[in-house]
Amino acid sequence: MKIIGTGSALPKKVVTNDMLTEFYDTSDEWIQARTGIVTRRIMTDESLLDLAITAAQRALEASGLKAEELDYILCSNVNNNYVFPSLSSMVQGKIGATCPCMDIRNACAGFVYVMDLADMYIKTGRAKRILLLTAEEPTRFCSWKQRETSVLFGDGAAAAVVEEGGEYLGARVTTICNTEVLYQRRRLEPTPFEVEGVYIDQPMVMQGREVFRMAVTNCSKEISTLLEDTGYKIEDVKFFLLHQANMRIIKGIEQYLGGKPEQFPTTVQKYGNTSSASMAILLDELVRENRIERDDLLVMSGFGAGFTTGSCMLKY
Ligand code: COA
Repeated sequence: MKIIGTGSALPKKVVTNDMLTEFYDTSDEWIQARTGIVTRRIMTDESLLDLAITAAQRALEASGLKAEELDYILCSNVNNNYVFPSLSSMVQGKIGATCPCMDIRNACAGFVYVMDLADMYIKTGRAKRILLLTAEEPTRFCSWKQRETSVLFGDGAAAAVVEEGGEYLGARVTTICNTEVLYQRRRLEPTPFEVEGVYIDQPMVMQGREVFRMAVTNCSKEISTLLEDTGYKIEDVKFFLLHQANMRIIKGIEQYLGGKPEQFPTTVQKYGNTSSASMAILLDELVRENRIERDDLLVMSGFGAGFTTGSCMLKY
């Protein structure tokens, strides 16, 4: 499988750290020191569907393919206004595609999971050209009364068109059942049989320090194993595209692996944590800035609620 086009779309509203001090007791100094985040983009009059459509259209345009030529749309999305249909089904009609669609909900690691699924569809001959999509509005799953979570997030969407050929060299995906460190519970429609107190509506709950620890430990370990399995060394890799959750997590993984800072590009300072969209937005930015050339070795690695990790290696 190879990537033949990328695209992304971000909300126009730029929210600075200072703007957040209107809502709770925080500071630019605290946020920058603990997270590296300076600004994030937050949706105002846009919808997540708008962003997803724009990202998909940009990726298609870059690939030179027409929407009708797609064999599948695989989408990573945690939440949007609709429980069903899937976000990818809604995007499909708007961009003029006619292929089957599927969403996966695997939190911030989701984009690597859709890449890995795409590789399997292509390897088995079930599809030749696939649109990988990710669109996330994490600013709508955390409480804006909680400073420890809402400072971290931003919204965004990105896409990549892949087709057969190229070298997708390997992937590692893991799930550790540790659901207490990161979750959001949503109340469903009540029934006459509901027992009071059973169904809880609750914004995101996060044990920040534990998530931080698990992220650095598990991603570092999985990337090292991926390198061992494929026989490549750290210095062979042009870029490690890591989930953009926190600059300190990225630095922690960089130090564990012993890589150079320039191998770990970041967007977290501009966009915050855009959940599973973060790695794909970063990929698109690097491609558009002509910083990635054909045959460059890339490693992508993300982590998220579950606790899940997903890492993959490919030649661009
Ligand atoms: N502004 C100012 N102070 C804040 C704050 C904010 N936005 N949020 C928390 N604090 C305070 C805490 O209340 C605490 O105060 P106390 O010492 O008086 O109790 C202090 O800052 C330190 O909090 P702590 O939680 O120990 O900070 P930390 O160094 O672990 O950083 C996170 C907090 C959330 C930035 C960090 O743990 C993290 O990034 N974790 C990973 C989160 C993540 O990536 N989640 C998404 C996964 S996909």
